[in-house]
Order: sequence, then C-alpha cells, then structure tokens
Amino acid sequence: MSEPMSQVAAYLDGNADQRIEELKELLRIPSVSADSKFKSDVHKAAEFVHAQLASSGCDAEIVETAGHPIVFGEWNKKPGAPTVLVYGHYDVQPPDPLDEWESPAFEPTIRDGQIYARGATDDKGQMYTHIKSVEAWLKTVGELPINVKFLIEGEEEVGSDNLDKFIEANKDRCACDVAVVSDTAQYGPGMPAITYGLRGIMACEITLYGPNQDLHSGVFGGSVTNPINGMAALLAKLIDDDGRIQIPGFYDDVIPLTDEERKAFADLPFDEAAYASRLGVTETHGEAGFTTTERRWARPTLDVNGIFGGYQGEGPKTIVPAKATAKLTCRLVPDQDESKIVAALEAFVKENCPPGLRLDFKHYHGCPAMVCDLNSPYMAAARSAIGHGFGKEPVMIREGGSIPVVGVFKQLLDVDTLLLGWGQNTDNLHSPNEHFSIDSFHRGTLASAWLWNELA
Ligand code: BES
Ligand code: MN
Ligand code: MN
Repeated sequence: MSEPMSQVAAYLDGNADQRIEELKELLRIPSVSADSKFKSDVHKAAEFVHAQLASSGCDAEIVETAGHPIVFGEWNKKPGAPTVLVYGHYDVQPPDPLDEWESPAFEPTIRDGQIYARGATDDKGQMYTHIKSVEAWLKTVGELPINVKFLIEGEEEVGSDNLDKFIEANKDRCACDVAVVSDTAQYGPGMPAITYGLRGIMACEITLYGPNQDLHSGVFGGSVTNPINGMAALLAKLIDDDGRIQIPGFYDDVIPLTDEERKAFADLPFDEAAYASRLGVTETHGEAGFTTTERRWARPTLDVNGIFGGYQGEGPKTIVPAKATAKLTCRLVPDQDESKIVAALEAFVKENCPPGLRLDFKHYHGCPAMVCDLNSPYMAAARSAIGHGFGKEPVMIREGGSIPVVGVFKQLLDVDTLLLGWGQNTDNLHSPNEHFSIDSFHRGTLASAWLWNELA
C-alpha cells in the first residue's frame, strides 16, 4: 500500500465507531422531503451535512432553493488533477407504515451488524461514506490527490426539480470530469457492483370525475358511469395479457437488448425461486419474452402506484362515488423520451375515457434512462477502488430504479456518472425496517478513499 493510503486506511480504522455515532445523529433527523410537516427537519439535515463538510476540510455552503436546500462543498487545491463531483441526497422517503417498524424509523438501532433507520441505505449512510473518505485524506495526508465537489440535495425523493435549476444556473461551479454517486446497490451480499445503467421515470396522476357528489347507488346506480368502475376499465386497457403496454408508440424508441448484454445478464447468478419467495409472491411475472433481470433492468414498465376514491371506511356503503384517482409511473429505458411518453399516455387515456366521465391528467415529474461507457478510465479506477475496499472485483450491472440527476449531469455537464452502490436491494429502502450493513458502510468508505487515489 502506498504511504498516503496506509495513513488514510489507519485513520478510517481508528475512527470507525465514532463514524457510526455521527451517522446515527444524521439518521435521527426525520428529513422527509415529501411532507411539508418535516420542512424544518429537512433543513436540519442540510445543516448537519454542511457542518460535516466544513469540518472535513471543504469549503461548504447551504444553498436555499424554492424547496429544500442544496449543500454545496468543494476542495479545489490540486490544479491539473481531475475534478470529481460527488452527488447524494439527505432527504428520505416517508417512514409509513409506522407500525411495521421493529424499532422506530428515526431511532437508529443496530441489530446483527445492520443499522436500522429510514435513510440508512437510501441515501444518508451511502452518501456519508464520501464525506468521511475526504475527511480522512485531509486530516492525514493534508490534501487530496484530486479536486472534489459535493452536491448533496434534499429533494431526490420528490423529483429533484430545484437541483436541476441550480445546476443549469451554476454550470461552471459544478463543472467536473466525472460524477460519483453511491445511491444504488451491490449485486448481492459479498458481490460489489458498478451500475452502468438506470431506468428513467415518468410520474403522473389521472382523475375521473362523474356525478357532482356521491350518489345513492340504488336510486342512481346503473344510470351514470361509476368513476371507479370507469377507472378500472381504463387502467385495464393499458397493458395486455402478455404484459405489453398498449399506448401507441410506447416502444418506438426502445433500444433492444443486444445478445451480448442478454448473455451478460444471464451469466450473473440469480435464483428465481428464492427471489419470488423473498417477495412473497407465488411466481415472478412480467412482459412475455424477457427474463426477470431483463424486465427489471432494461424493459419499460407501467405501474399503478395507488388508486383511490369512494368509501374507504369500515362496513359497507352503497354509493356511486363522485370521482376516482389513480397514480401511475412508467419506468423508461434508453432511448425513450419522457415528454413523448407523457403526451402519448395522456392522449391514450383521454381517447379511452369511459362515457359520461371527465378526465383530469396531471404530470408530476420525469427523467430519462441512462447507460454509460463501460470502458472509460474512470470505470477502471472505480473497479480498482472497489477491489481495494471490498476485497473483491465488482460485477457490472444495470438497475431498475432512477436517479434523476444522472441524466442532468450528462446533458448539462457532459459527464458520465460512476454509480458505486454500497447498499443491497434487500435493505428495505422505501419500506419498513430500512437498514444498511455496517461492514458495507466501512468498506464503502475505504473504497471511496481509494477512488480518489485511483482517479488521480
Ligand atoms: N436510491 C434510489 C434509486 C435506486 C435504488 C436506484 C436502488 C437503483 C437501485 C433513489 O433514491 C430513488 O428512490 N429514486 C426514485 C426516483 C424518483 C422519486 C424520481 C425512484 O427510483 O423511484
Ligand atoms: Mn436514493
Ligand atoms: Mn429513494
């Protein structure tokens, strides 16, 4: 090991327990971006990140936005060396359903080598590894071998709208050679991975209006379209029995998987039965002609995320409801164009709106899919860093989730992103009992410290 890396590694070893205590402090802050009730807590989390960046030795600033703040940090004292932009998010998903947590969502608790809390893996714990690796370099070696910028936001879980505006208005400030994000997963336990592709997303909501108020279903039922019946019929038209989405033009821009990539996917170990059983389903199911891995990583989808309307309380109630709402998301793959997909979906549902109902369509947010260059020198550096941190070479994977800013980095800053996930997809992100392996947290921090070395 080189002299700087052995100093850095020793520092990280010596401070491991303290780092967990600090992470716990961050995890105690309920920074739920979706719910305005938590607005001041979201701000507190930004302040924590800001203080940590500052004490690590970076120049740091809290940038207020129309929504939640962005924390910007930098250490720019290595002219001529590459500049890395680290992105992460300190906001979290709502903790609901609360009664399914074994320990409270915002009281971080360690059990079996895992730290349990909302945001443990997504993304507070993963993001924190990079702040601490920079601290380790600056406190031991006194400098980094590269330049680093941090962009840590508080609106990832609600679409990153204000971050996009910030980057657009601060292109020079964000300029870099490559972006680094730890907000994905390893392929499995003991199988570190680099994610070279993500799906995009399109999120929207449809409301169908019928009568001007709920009606007696005996007196009026049968004479007007029931909005919930209408919604069920409309949603049923969106996908056929083979799992093919029926919106005209939906697949037009989809880049088909190559035989080579299908083979690479198939070569990864995957236990279909174990997968189904862990999810509690009787069998896996999806678009005909594709494997489970292909469906998750490289095929577009349409999911109803929530449907509501009518009477939701206990016991029966005989009404024709006044309205029904469905929330929908499509996961997109290269080269689908999010705005084209929104327009096509809106046209399709309007054309197929059942008689006697009025339809309201609302677009929430979206981002394109991405696939990045597998053969760049940055990829090689990341492979080597992970090898050092995890004691194992990473496998190359794609993922089905979305990180909106990655497309923006490509579009506005013209850089690729290294997606170095330290989590596991079994960490219950967005679910009750979210957790993050403490071993992965420490290995991720070490891999991050190596990354600065390898990128230099
Ligand atoms: N960290 C996730 C994305 C992710 C998780 C990618 C696991 C790959 C593997 C991120 O925080 C997230 O939840 N993204 C949202 C984006 C949306 C709200 C715009 C998603 O994918 O639903
Ligand atoms: Mn995340
Ligand atoms: Mn998330």
